[in-house]
Amino acid sequence: MSHDLFEAARAAMAFAHAPYSKFPVGAAIRAEDGRIYAGANIENLSFPQGWCAEPTAISQMIMGGAKKIVEMAVIAEKLPLCPPCGGCRQKIAEFASATTPIYLCDETGVKKTMTMEELLPHGFSTDVIG
Ligand code: THU
Repeated sequence: MSHDLFEAARAAMAFAHAPYSKFPVGAAIRAEDGRIYAGANIENLSFPQGWCAEPTAISQMIMGGAKKIVEMAVIAEKLPLCPPCGGCRQKIAEFASATTPIYLCDETGVKKTMTMEELLPHGFSTDVIG
């Protein structure tokens, strides 16, 4: 992975709106168009209405006109490794493939690389819908 994806995730984390958890998270996607789409978690006073960094990055990608996650980086300043939560794994999988690498980072860089399949084995998937 080139350093720019990590840098984008780390830079995005600075935009986190996390006044309740005080747990900023950043995520960055390199999409099939070669561009990087980044996002941070955005919390809400009505707690369940807040959302994670990963869907913010996915929203950026979709609104940028891209559809495929080529690789993705996630960082949380208070956790040496921040694996995407369960719900985010399903959201990422929608736009990834089994072999898509997900980089779990700390402040210095990539600490662990996992594939989508490793993060979400036996995920919900069917061709009956759609
Ligand atoms: N969070 C993320 O942004 N991504 C994850 O994968 C795990 C959790 C956020 C949600 C909430 O704003 C804060 O971290 C504490 O759970």
